Amino acid sequence: MLLRERKVIVTGGPTREWLDPIRFISNPSSGKMGVALADESLRRAREAVFIYGPIDAALVSNKRFRAVPVDTTEEMLAAVRKEIEENAVVIMAAAPADFAPVKKSGQKIKKTDRLFSIEFTKTPDILKELKEMRSKELIRNLFTVGFAAETENVEKYALNKLTEKHLDMICLNDVSQKGAGFGTDTNIITIFVKDGSRLELPMMSKQEAAARILDEIENRLPRYLI
Ligand code: CTP
Repeated sequence: MLLRERKVIVTGGPTREWLDPIRFISNPSSGKMGVALADESLRRAREAVFIYGPIDAALVSNKRFRAVPVDTTEEMLAAVRKEIEENAVVIMAAAPADFAPVKKSGQKIKKTDRLFSIEFTKTPDILKELKEMRSKELIRNLFTVGFAAETENVEKYALNKLTEKHLDMICLNDVSQKGAGFGTDTNIITIFVKDGSRLELPMMSKQEAAARILDEIENRLPRYLI
């Protein structure tokens, strides 16, 4: 089944996990890579939906793809579950927060003179939830693409994620390199595919990188229904 017959679900940006009504933990993901992927997906696929955490509103205004805003990792998971369908391509370019406070205070936490600690718990891993759904055959013929933002042992960690999350493809982003990673307009990506092949892309704009990633996805998609 060709990409133009499939729905593409792209996630982008960070998520937020709130400590109290005015404070959260998050990360500096800008959502630019996700927006570029959603733009490129709309050009090539039957439908493209962009599920995104808090990012600059200008990035999604006047876009033709459907845009679904979310706040927390739980909400991002719920939105992905709602959008998922057989034969969909899921590109997880988002940087969901991995930890959430065990207790969210209903009121602003007041400062004290003493040290204080906050207990965190893990948020759901969206790609692992998709792996579960596939293994239980709740959804068939998904093609899943992950991103790995790494600062050390970059290739090893990316390949671990490819296997552990049962991905079809992973895009490694060595965020310690200049011109790669969070907030920049360019990226330096290496694409690893589950068949063992790899493609190293030089530094390029996030739009160009999105086109190259979609080229690889298009070339790898099974052309038949399983
Ligand atoms: N991801 C996800 N759900 C999460 C966290 C991450 O689906 N709760 C996805 C990201 O969108 C990305 C991939 O998993 O496609 C890898 O994300 P990354 O932050 O690099 O790795 P983690 O799995 O969070 O592991 P670690 O932080 O230990 O490197």
